[in-house]
Order: sequence, then C-alpha cells, then structure tokens
Amino acid sequence: MVFDGKQEKQAYGSSWAQQADGYFSDPEMARDYLVAIMRVISDATPTSIADLGGGTGFIFEQLIEAGIPENIRLVVIDESEEQLSQCLHSRIMPMKGGFQSFSRSEVVDESGKLMVISRSVLQYAGFKGQKPWLNHVRGQMQSGEWFVHQSGCTEDLFFSQEINRLFEAMNVDKWVPNYEAFENLLHNARFEVIESFTVHSVGMASEELIVRYGVSRDNIEKIKVALRSSCAHRPDIVVFPPTGFIFNFPYRVLLCRAV
Ligand SMILES: C[S@@+](CC[C@H](N)C(=O)[O-])C[C@H]1O[C@@H](n2cnc3c(N)ncnc32)[C@H](O)[C@@H]1O
Repeated sequence: MVFDGKQEKQAYGSSWAQQADGYFSDPEMARDYLVAIMRVISDATPTSIADLGGGTGFIFEQLIEAGIPENIRLVVIDESEEQLSQCLHSRIMPMKGGFQSFSRSEVVDESGKLMVISRSVLQYAGFKGQKPWLNHVRGQMQSGEWFVHQSGCTEDLFFSQEINRLFEAMNVDKWVPNYEAFENLLHNARFEVIESFTVHSVGMASEELIVRYGVSRDNIEKIKVALRSSCAHRPDIVVFPPTGFIFNFPYRVLLCRAV
C-alpha cells in the first residue's frame, strides 16, 4: 500500500504543535528563517505574503510578534482544513488551496507586490512533483519578487540517497534533493538563489514514524538493520538509541528572487 497521507493528517490541527518534538511550534527552531524573511521584507516591501503550506499560521504569528509592517496582507494557503482551523490571529487570512494550484489574484491586488514563503512543504511534492510545483509558484510571481523558503535539502548526495531510500522503504511519497540538485531545480524554474544557509534539522524518531506513517514494527526493524550497515559512519544522518533510530531531516533556507 502506498502512503496516501491520511495517517499523517491525523497529526494536523490542534495536536500539530506537539509533533516532531515541538519543532514546528518552537520560535528558537524558526529564528534564522524568520530573520531572513524580515530582512527580505524590509528591502522588497511586499504588499501581500503567501505562506504556502503555512499550516496553523505559526510563522506569521512569529513575524507579527517581530513587528512585520501592519499594511502587509498575510495569507496562509494550506490544503488541510484542520490546520487552517488553528489560524486564529485576526491579521492572518486562512485560505484552502494547494502549493501547486493557488493563484496570484487570490492573494494580491493587480498593482500589488507578492512575496512567497514556505517552510517544510516541498518534500510533499515527491520526486515527480518538485519541478511542476516550483514552476507553478514561479508562474504566479513577477520578476524581482521573492520566494523565501525553508525546504528539505541535504548537503551531499549520499545523504539524499539515504533519506529518499528511507521514505521509499516506508511507502511514503516524499523526496528531498541534495543542494546541487535543488539549486538546479530552482534555476530551471527561473529562480535565482541569492543566499542560502542550513538551519536546525528535525529528528524523525522510529517510534514516531510508526504512528505518523503507519509503518509496521517489522518494517522499522528491517530499515534499522539496513541503516546500521549503510550509515554507521554518518551520525549526522542517523543515530541508534535503544528504542530504534532517529533519522535527521535536514533543512536549508533559500532566499530566491524570481528572474
Ligand atoms: C510539515 S507541515 C509545515 C507547516 C508550516 N509550514 C510550519 O512550518 O509550521 C506541512 C504543511 O504543508 C501542508 N501541505 C502539504 N501538501 C500541501 C499542498 N500540496 N498544498 C498546500 N499545503 C500542503 C500540510 O497540510 C501541512 O500543514
């Protein structure tokens, strides 16, 4: 059976903040990404920002706290109603929609300037989806506008092979490129990477993978044996506590300008 996301969606909504050891509701984990967004805002002066796959609106809440100008329209676009139901701040407009299908006119006036942000969403596009998803986003933007995102991205090819092999072994259609491949994808979608840097990764503990993706204990055990043999020399990729394993999901923040 191929993973269809139903299992994972049970984590959405009011219990989302506790997932992944609280990573997605921790201001400290988001700090460098937030600083990068604020820097771009002060230069680019957008009139609207769309947070694609913005979930519960956590990133916008943090930006409001950091003093984002009041005249900027803040739109969270997410495909999950459970997630959007938690967007409770009066300044944030929740909108049901897809990364790969939203349209510019829903977010910004004809004469307005759009900025797009997104954290931890592109991996959902899978191997075949990242190219069309990036092309779609670029198609909604005008030259000179900014796409600032924190996306799954490894530093080397071996790491991306291992993480993609892990997803495949769990029947999960997620995909994470290495940096060189990612830069190429962005370039081909007509984005120029102006700056990029790595940020805190999120640990994927085997016990959590069982619940989040409905992976059987047998399968987790087989994966653990395979990881022990392929990644014993890479504690930056995976570690082996007595309970099983913790695989690192690595992130990079990329400040991209539409060319
Ligand atoms: C890992 S969570 C990240 C949430 C938020 N960006 C954050 O950093 O707190 C991924 C989010 O992407 C949303 N999502 C997944 N695929 C999507 C798609 N195709 N279009 C829009 N949202 C999507 C999920 O519903 C979920 O809220």
